[in-house]
Amino acid sequence: MAQPFAVLHALLLTLLCLSTMAMAAYNVQDFGAKPDGRTDAAKPFLAAWAAACGSSKAATIIVPAGRFLVSQALFKGPCKNKALRMFIQGTLLAPSGYSDATLWITFKYVEGLSVYGGTLDGRGQAFWACKKAGRSCPFGATSLTIGQSKNVLLSGMTMINSEVFQMSIFASNGVTVKGAKIIAPGDSPNTDGIHVQMSSFVTITGSSMTTGDDCISMGAGTTDVRIEKIYCGPGHGISIGSLGGTTKEEPGVQNITVRSVVFSGTQNGVRIKTWGRPTNGFVKGVNFENIVMRDVQNPVVIDQNYCPGNKNCPGQSSGIKISQVKFANVRGSSATQVAVKLDCSPSNPCSGIQLRDINLSYQKKQSLSYCKNAKGSSSGVMNPPSCL
Ligand SMILES: *[C@@H]1O[C@H](CO)[C@@H](O)[C@H](O)[C@H]1NC(C)=O
Ligand SMILES: *[C@@H]1O[C@H](CO)[C@@H](O)[C@H](O)[C@H]1NC(C)=O
Repeated sequence: MAQPFAVLHALLLTLLCLSTMAMAAYNVQDFGAKPDGRTDAAKPFLAAWAAACGSSKAATIIVPAGRFLVSQALFKGPCKNKALRMFIQGTLLAPSGYSDATLWITFKYVEGLSVYGGTLDGRGQAFWACKKAGRSCPFGATSLTIGQSKNVLLSGMTMINSEVFQMSIFASNGVTVKGAKIIAPGDSPNTDGIHVQMSSFVTITGSSMTTGDDCISMGAGTTDVRIEKIYCGPGHGISIGSLGGTTKEEPGVQNITVRSVVFSGTQNGVRIKTWGRPTNGFVKGVNFENIVMRDVQNPVVIDQNYCPGNKNCPGQSSGIKISQVKFANVRGSSATQVAVKLDCSPSNPCSGIQLRDINLSYQKKQSLSYCKNAKGSSSGVMNPPSCL
């Protein structure tokens, strides 16, 4: 007699589970979103978000397969639960033209969010055409922004053709990006892959990036970052900076690890860039290791004399202090003869620079390194010969 009871019990449990799952799962189509690529689904998406965010227990938002036009969406917290999930099978389409909007999809004040899958198509083509024609264009929209948020996971997202940045992580703590695929043409202006600013404990792993600007860039106040197993190219490489461009007092950049990255045909490889202006700030504790360069124009760069257009900086010197930066096991080919360039500030020389096992070839000639105001040491294989 015990067995039928157990079966019944299991069945009841299953039903209970299914019904609680159903209660806490919100499908955007049930809120009126149409997967036709033409009807604006912003309101249904926001209604599904409001329901999930207002749920006091774990809640799931489902975006089924299909193409959903979303004019603009700000998914705002704080939410009543810290276990929001979003399963996206389909594609979110930005409007095909461009406007004055600087944000497309935004998550703000959210804690405990996991987004699985999804394709975000920023449809930046019209905006790039405006820029390339040298017309006066608006600022451009970042496709995805994670702002003022905590414990966010983005897993397996595809991002294509943003107007400007594909993804921006701002003033957030604990953001993980896994298995992202970021795609924009190599000649699309300012389509950085992921920009991180004023944020800590950011992890970006197992992702590939093809962009018209930096694959990943890190601005002021970025700390405790791990970037690992990345493919970048075409693009402008992985950069810290530009720092020191705006305010006089800037929070520093600290504890950054960039490991196991392949750069292919990029303008730069790994780079630290500061304006040649006397602002305050620092970069401290950076490890670039296990890096492969394939035909990269400037594989290893510290440039503290950034002064585009030679405006407001000529003759000045960067106030950003750079220290404890390690470049280890960097190998492959440089597309220009100077494969390592460490051009530091005359008033704030770089200190504690370490070069270890660098092997960068340049065609059939000897590659070169260039150092200015840089102090540190080198060890292991050194091709080009060290200038430190
Ligand atoms: C540096 O950042 C990593 C995360 O990338 C973190 O695990 C580690 O604890 C940080 N180290 C220090 C000294 O804060
Ligand atoms: C440096 O790399 C070249 C290939 O680009 C390779 O033939 C050479 O053995 C490497 N040198 C060392 C010391 O690892």
